[in-house]
Amino acid sequence: MFTLSEDQQALVQAARTAALTELAATVKEDDEREHFRKDQFQRLGAAGLCGVPTSEDWGGLGLGYVEYALVIEEIAKVAPSYAVSVAVSGLPQVILAQFGNDEQRARWMPGLAAGELLGAFALSEPGSGSDAASLRTTAVREGENYVLNGTKFWITHGGYADIYVVMARTGGPGPKGVSAFLVPGDTPGLSFGKKEEKMGLRASPTVEMILENATIPASNRIGAEGIGFSVAMSALDSGRITIAATALGIAQSAMDCAGRYAVARKQFDQAIIDFQGVGFMLADMAVRIEQARLLTHKAAWLKDNQLPFSPTAAMAKCAATDCAMAVTTDAVQVLGGYGYTREYPIERLMRDAKVMQIVEGTNQVQRVVIARNLKRGWE
Ligand code: CAA
Repeated sequence: MFTLSEDQQALVQAARTAALTELAATVKEDDEREHFRKDQFQRLGAAGLCGVPTSEDWGGLGLGYVEYALVIEEIAKVAPSYAVSVAVSGLPQVILAQFGNDEQRARWMPGLAAGELLGAFALSEPGSGSDAASLRTTAVREGENYVLNGTKFWITHGGYADIYVVMARTGGPGPKGVSAFLVPGDTPGLSFGKKEEKMGLRASPTVEMILENATIPASNRIGAEGIGFSVAMSALDSGRITIAATALGIAQSAMDCAGRYAVARKQFDQAIIDFQGVGFMLADMAVRIEQARLLTHKAAWLKDNQLPFSPTAAMAKCAATDCAMAVTTDAVQVLGGYGYTREYPIERLMRDAKVMQIVEGTNQVQRVVIARNLKRGWE
């Protein structure tokens, strides 16, 4: 747990090389232009990075979430938007692995794991964010089909994805009335509205999704009617580990940039890292990153060992994303005026860090998950 095996080290190196080769050259331009390149995502897939925990039977590497977290951290060090793409395209895979049937897995998993297909996850709506169980999109059974109507919001890969896992209401109000569906990107009645103009993570497209009598075969329902909320929650439990790993990559990248600068930059005849005010900032960054990485790897290890991991994943998500926000903010400070310019990547990393405290459940929702779990232990 505290050291990486030779295989894990080789995987980290492969992920680092792929990220630098495929993504580094266009990160700055794509942030400025808010541009996502599906071909770059597909090349990460060709390098084996889009299905790390997916079984080899379904085209993945068949490794664990510890390895998945390591890979995502490496991608995030170079291009956080693509780390999120790998994580989000992983959600349909983790869902199908646990709740899908063989026919659904055979249809979608190999393409998703190879990165040839892009996946997406559609839970949130304009009026349903943290209170996910209040979603209003409906799925009405008509013969051998379901007809979906509603609007989904904040959809990563909206308009780009080949397959969307959509949560829609088939029953009464609340979580028990929700079901999960596979909605292919070319489904008639599926369209896309506003693309959000965001502060950060700007190479990751975030788009409104509109379902107007979108009709899919009943065989595209994932599991039984009424389990959709549990499908979504359990996918997010896993997803939160990948968001933590993305935040770690952001934080590590910012700290390394600030550290190199603090060694090279001289003021008052000495490197600024030798001023305690700067050196201690870097030391505090290292402490926070190490704490968050240990928690993230523990959550992954618990999942890999089929142990309860939901509250630990929530802790890791909180710790790593709060760490990324604090570290990137201090990293800008270490560089002073230079840190505030686009000459260095730190201002972008700081903008990217902010959304990590929001996606896949705000850090306030993570605290709800943690507190409820604590309460159960004390009751
Ligand atoms: N795993 C499996 N099932 C679960 C579960 C879990 N972790 N948590 C809850 N459930 C199921 C249970 O069956 C539960 O029923 P029981 O009480 O009978 O066991 C049922 O769901 C209802 O659970 P709650 O009463 O806890 O539900 P709640 O309405 O109080 O909500 C919440 C809890 C934690 C606040 C939840 O709504 C939540 O996580 N909200 C945040 C949503 C979120 O993360 N959205 C992000 C969307 S994706 C994104 O950001 C971008 C992207 O592109 C991916």
